[in-house]
Amino acid sequence: MTLTRVAAPPASPHIPVLLRPILAAVAPVSGTWVDGTFGAGSYTRGLLDAGADLVIAIDRDPTVFDLAKSWAGGYGDRLRLVEGTFSELDEIAGELVDGVVLDLGVSSMQLDQPERGFSFLREGPLDMRMSASGPSAADLVNSASEEDLADILYHYGEERQARRIARAICRARAEAPIETTTGLVEIVERQLPRPKPGQSHPATRSFQAIRIAVNDEFGQLAAGLEAAERALKPGGKLAVVTFHSLEDRVVKRYLQLAASSGGGGSRYAPERGPETPRFTLTPKKPIAADDDELRANPRARSARLRIATRTDAPAEVLDRTQLGLPAPVLKGDTR
Ligand SMILES: C[S@@+](CC[C@H](N)C(=O)[O-])C[C@H]1O[C@@H](n2cnc3c(N)ncnc32)[C@H](O)[C@@H]1O
Repeated sequence: MTLTRVAAPPASPHIPVLLRPILAAVAPVSGTWVDGTFGAGSYTRGLLDAGADLVIAIDRDPTVFDLAKSWAGGYGDRLRLVEGTFSELDEIAGELVDGVVLDLGVSSMQLDQPERGFSFLREGPLDMRMSASGPSAADLVNSASEEDLADILYHYGEERQARRIARAICRARAEAPIETTTGLVEIVERQLPRPKPGQSHPATRSFQAIRIAVNDEFGQLAAGLEAAERALKPGGKLAVVTFHSLEDRVVKRYLQLAASSGGGGSRYAPERGPETPRFTLTPKKPIAADDDELRANPRARSARLRIATRTDAPAEVLDRTQLGLPAPVLKGDTR
């Protein structure tokens, strides 16, 4: 006898963060949406189940699409999966869209795979590339100048011992290349005091900084916000979830400037003429996880959601020096 079963979606290894408040804030959902950070697909499924006609789901990590194979077909041509970066989401979409969601950073699936090299808790190659291409963390750590390493650790990780750690990395690599996550962890740990109970692992800030540099995360973020502005229809919604204050600051400044009519002058940039706001902030303040979500998923603690609605004013390119981008990104290009 053959048993016929309806395939249930597999339990997601990634618990989505702030999905409920996103769906509540953008309801009713219809039309075409871009999920610029597909990951385990929880946002995409949430949007499709809430009524989106089409979701264009983008991720720079090609491995995430294999994990979606078991359920993606069930949505037929309402779901389009694209390997790419959200910095190009307007070109990938190829049409004006009703909404864009971005859930920044790495997924727990990426963190949990030792061979990806993202985690300081797991031995693996020092890789940290979300996509399969470009220089790895080992390439960066073994070739960048001491000064650049210190800048990366300081500006992207807010590591106060950046200079000391950069010096130690350069001393260690003169003996032998640093090839593994644990090799880097040992170097960092030797430069910092033992953490007190409740403090984070000493390598947390260094790993965050190197991952951000390897993936050009701030260049991607600035370009992604600009691309979303170009892609959204009047009335279209933008929802961005950030995981640390450096990211949230960039999103906040971008949206404040794009929602202002004052020209956004600063002491670094001359004031421009009055403009029509390109976004309205809906709501004005960021949304954090509520107690229920925090109980179910303590990883949501630092997550912040900002939502804005596009007006009919033409898209503009902001002066990126006004966005509070950490310093080293201004030297590099967006990949
Ligand atoms: C936090 S996870 C998203 C999880 C997803 N919202 C969910 O609930 O299943 C972030 C994902 O975005 C991808 N990603 C990060 N930066 C990207 C970029 N610039 N362009 C495209 N994908 C990116 C990562 O590879 C990762 O899979």
